[in-house]
Amino acid sequence: MNCEYSKTSKRIFRSEIRELLKYTRKPGIISFGGGLPDASLFPVREIADITAKVLEQKGYLALQYGPTAGEPEMLEALLGHMAEFGDEATDKEICVTSSSQQGLDLLTLLFLDEDMPVVMELPSYIGGVQVFRRSGAEMIGVPMDSEGMELDHLERTLDRLGKAGGKPRFIYAIPDFQNPSGVTMTLERRKRLIEIAQSWDIPLVEDSPYRELSFTGEVLPSLWTLSGGKGVIMLKTFSKVLFPGMRMGWIIADEHCIDKIVMLKQSVDLCTPSFTQLILAEYIKRGKMRESIGKAIDCYRSKLDAMLAALEKHMPGEIEWSRPTGGMFIWLTLPERIDTKEIFNTAIEHNVAYVIGHPFHCDGSGANTLRLNYSFPAIEQIDTGIERLAAAIKEVL
Ligand SMILES: Cc1ncc(COP(=O)(O)O)c(C=O)c1O
Repeated sequence: MNCEYSKTSKRIFRSEIRELLKYTRKPGIISFGGGLPDASLFPVREIADITAKVLEQKGYLALQYGPTAGEPEMLEALLGHMAEFGDEATDKEICVTSSSQQGLDLLTLLFLDEDMPVVMELPSYIGGVQVFRRSGAEMIGVPMDSEGMELDHLERTLDRLGKAGGKPRFIYAIPDFQNPSGVTMTLERRKRLIEIAQSWDIPLVEDSPYRELSFTGEVLPSLWTLSGGKGVIMLKTFSKVLFPGMRMGWIIADEHCIDKIVMLKQSVDLCTPSFTQLILAEYIKRGKMRESIGKAIDCYRSKLDAMLAALEKHMPGEIEWSRPTGGMFIWLTLPERIDTKEIFNTAIEHNVAYVIGHPFHCDGSGANTLRLNYSFPAIEQIDTGIERLAAAIKEVL
């Protein structure tokens, strides 16, 4: 077609990770690639039962357009779910989304313009990098250590931007069991991050899909709760704690911000399907959410333990890795001289796949890093998979 495409479309690139993950279809491969939940946990029967009931009793609502902010029944259920994890909000501070990726898209539309700075962790969620890049905003990375974002570095970055007459439109952080690093931000850092953001009057975007998946029982207070809701926007989703197939998430923010988000969402999709909202609202009402999360925690804790034990057993001394206490990922750092993209093919020859680390870095660094997912592979595959990966790495070392 001979036509002129938009500036936005020219900022979209084919995902390097998706291209590489194509190889994972090879028979016999053990994949530690995508961030997928274990499908054996999906409550298929219960959802079938609820779906039939919703259609029978509320078909007139389920198959109709619904309010943009969400079905009242769903909003009530979501607020109840959050309260169980220590996060209180009102029905004026919530908007349903078609999962967190839409939440990120809406926040990008709301805050980011071409060349405007936005600050994020190094590394950070690749879907965030992708959607912020699409806006033409200038992404600025702040390194992380085992306690979360390095806040001295953040302050220096804000000073530098301030002197140049700019201020980031928001700071994007994933405080709980971060994707991709597995790191959880400490309580001290959470408090200081809020202080810094408030002193500069910069909104904090707290993306928290893994918050409920704590394997130790400890769940630190969210930025939303610690700040009393002041200056924080929280993104939530059921993709990781339940299943991603219904594309169900929500945003929490102050009333003024939610109002703007709702207006933007109207222009994007009018509403998230009432059908799926009513099904999930009933699922939560039946008290099934807690049960599902409990099962996911038991399953993923065993898989994490298996992967950590296998790394200890098989990996050569020069390799370092994170030791998460929840979520779905372990982050590996190889010696600087190794490019994990270059060893990907060797790993595929050894019948194992992972995700290369550099696309998670908005500044293009991180060539010597990689992400391993432990939630999706069968527990019996983990030791063999890590043994194969270690063999591929040893070959290159
Ligand atoms: C940190 C983070 N945010 C957002 C998402 C998007 O998830 P979804 O759109 O399925 O809710 C993901 C998915 O991997 C994620 O890890």
